Amino acid sequence: MSKSRHHPPIRLRIAIPQDIDSILGLETSCFDRTEEMFNRRQIQRLISNPRATVVVAERKGVAMGWAAGVLRHHHQHQSGRLYAIAVHPNAQGKRIGYKLIDHILHSLTTHGAQRIFLEVHAENQKAMNLYHKLGFIVQGHLADYYGAGHHGIRMMCPGTSTPHPQKLNRTKA
Ligand SMILES: CC(C)(COP(=O)(O)OP(=O)(O)OC[C@H]1O[C@@H](n2cnc3c(N)ncnc32)[C@H](O)[C@@H]1OP(=O)(O)O)[C@@H](O)C(=O)NCCC(=O)NCCS
Repeated sequence: MSKSRHHPPIRLRIAIPQDIDSILGLETSCFDRTEEMFNRRQIQRLISNPRATVVVAERKGVAMGWAAGVLRHHHQHQSGRLYAIAVHPNAQGKRIGYKLIDHILHSLTTHGAQRIFLEVHAENQKAMNLYHKLGFIVQGHLADYYGAGHHGIRMMCPGTSTPHPQKLNRTKA
């Protein structure tokens, strides 16, 4: 039996409003504290925001991860912010997080972001390793960013002029 039968491929696609429950499920499976997770309203707003790229990674129609980035317009330039990334604990360590963020970075830079920023819990070494791998560097420390005693780290990735990744479908297959 071929390997792909055991592990059907992961497919990335643009999130739609019907994904909100699955995304909420991913958030609650990945985070213990509400200060670190996105709620229904925030997810809804991201999906309907024309400046946001919200991507779902699915296997056999089941959401395994999601990520969101938003383009910001400034006076004379544009920047991007990686807002969210979560991969279901059962699916972690299989490069899904890498693929999701890579897609968001390509999308933001293609739309003009010169730099991309993010915040991460200072104790989330796993996520920081992933961000370093994708070119992010530490920019600063944010005391109590996620609540008292829960500090954050701000990271930044210089944008590159890489081509846009394969355009993702807006609807489910
Ligand atoms: C952080 C997270 C998104 C990583 O996703 P993932 O699909 O498991 O990660 P990948 O398989 O793509 O791994 C990519 C890189 O991340 C880092 N990484 C992943 N798992 C790791 C682990 N258990 N320990 C240390 N580093 C790890 C490594 O640098 C890895 O590259 P490598 O495999 O070449 O060493 C995932 O663990 C997750 O959803 N965590 C909970 C939610 C969260 O913390 N989100 C970040 C909020 S800021």
